[in-house]
Amino acid sequence: MPKLTIQPSGKVADVAPGTNLLAAITGAGETLKCTCGGNGGCEASHLFVSEGRKSLTKAQKPEHEKLDSLVGVSSKSRLACVAAIGEEDVTVEILSFV
Ligand code: FES
Repeated sequence: MPKLTIQPSGKVADVAPGTNLLAAITGAGETLKCTCGGNGGCEASHLFVSEGRKSLTKAQKPEHEKLDSLVGVSSKSRLACVAAIGEEDVTVEILSFV
């Protein structure tokens, strides 16, 4: 079962493949202030994926469009609410500026 590591807290959780990344993060006890119901409509779940990026489901056009509208986006950016974890370990960094 893949491990999800959440920075900067360092929390680690075992996550079943196919689990939504936002659900995995909140299930590990972290809080993201979602205002869109987890449908990619706000920026609350914007984070950086520092390891295991290829394990996540591929970003679709609406996610790319939303990320393009945000400040502080990098090549590591994803919206956790519209990404699911695959078979490999993933490390994410929750952003302080979101
Ligand atoms: S929770 Fe709103 S964009 Fe992901």
